Amino acid sequence: MNDTTLQTIIANRIRARGRITFAEYMAACLYEPGLGYYTSPGRKVGTSGDFYTSITVHAAFGRVIAREISAMWRSLGCPEEFTLVEAGAGHGRLACDIMDFLAERSAECYRAVRLVLVEQEPSLAEAQAVLLAAHRDKLSWLTPAELPGFRFSGVLYSNELLDAMPVHRVLMTPQGLRELYVTLHEEQFQEVADIPSTPALEEYLQRYGMPLHPGQEAEVSLAGLAWYEGAVAALQQGFLLTIDYGWLKAELYDQRRNLGTLLCYYRHTVEDNPYQRLGQQDITTHINFSTLMERGEELGLQNIWFGDQARFLMAAGMIEELDEIEASDLTEKEKLQRRLTIKRLIMPEGGMGDTFRVLVQSKGVTTPQLACLRGIGP
Ligand SMILES: C[S@@+](CC[C@H](N)C(=O)[O-])C[C@H]1O[C@@H](n2cnc3c(N)ncnc32)[C@H](O)[C@@H]1O
Repeated sequence: MNDTTLQTIIANRIRARGRITFAEYMAACLYEPGLGYYTSPGRKVGTSGDFYTSITVHAAFGRVIAREISAMWRSLGCPEEFTLVEAGAGHGRLACDIMDFLAERSAECYRAVRLVLVEQEPSLAEAQAVLLAAHRDKLSWLTPAELPGFRFSGVLYSNELLDAMPVHRVLMTPQGLRELYVTLHEEQFQEVADIPSTPALEEYLQRYGMPLHPGQEAEVSLAGLAWYEGAVAALQQGFLLTIDYGWLKAELYDQRRNLGTLLCYYRHTVEDNPYQRLGQQDITTHINFSTLMERGEELGLQNIWFGDQARFLMAAGMIEELDEIEASDLTEKEKLQRRLTIKRLIMPEGGMGDTFRVLVQSKGVTTPQLACLRGIGP
């Protein structure tokens, strides 16, 4: 199978039904069964893939999150049943680092935990089961469609999930808002701007966006919003932890980002052309944290922490992780190597530390006592 197969499928779809929205095009490129970027074989994340995520850098990322998850369990009064849901679990690395830490360091919390993985690509369940073999009796799965109907108390967390959801693209013109569609011109994909396919785009921008300037392009993640509403409905009591790259609306829809934030990743190079290497390159956009915070509040959530990944990790336990490395029996060279690797997770200016943001929200928790809420000084 190669990208021409996917190209033909999308082109036939356009021939049969007419132009499609960019969101439909992006959904096919990422999730067409057997052919999309995330639904076809091959390693996507890590050195041999196309991009790194924090979880592939060092287990300390998952260990710090596990420390905070343990504090969340205590904030809920140490319940005997405590459900962790990871959405967009990929190969299961993060879940494994979290469960290993809880088993090793927080035995009571670990006893209470059951882990539910949700992943768009069902074939990854096999890899997840192998990686999480030591925690097999605690592990189960849900499909993305089942998540909104699931009811649980505990923590729903995700790392780089919402940036991988299909987006609509819009363009402001002197005549008003237009949507970018994908059509065929001389057998090539071409973008055309026209009246939006749904009033939901304009409504979204009014509620969670900013006024766009003529000539400005932007993305609207209706799929992300729908996913989020389903996730909030599923969580009965506990915490939502969202880690991703993105901004609040004023920054995301700032005129400086005149062409939006859409990027493509292929073998660690970044491009902005989504019409090449169909199904073989990642297509991604920065997420709108204002949507989660504002919609979350409307749905009864409290926004309890929002900021850079670096500050979150340092406050939530990275300092302790680094202290433990210092105090360990490792050689000086090994210690240095670990420190340098971990630095990538917290480095500002181009590192992951200030590119990624963390949002912690709670539902029905009177006094959340989390490590991220403590000050870490300047
Ligand atoms: C960018 S990858 C991140 C994977 C992993 N969390 C990490 O940090 O390495 C996004 C993942 O989310 C999955 N995904 C996309 N939409 C989803 C949904 N609605 N529910 C669950 N998983 C989804 C994709 O299949 C893909 O594995």
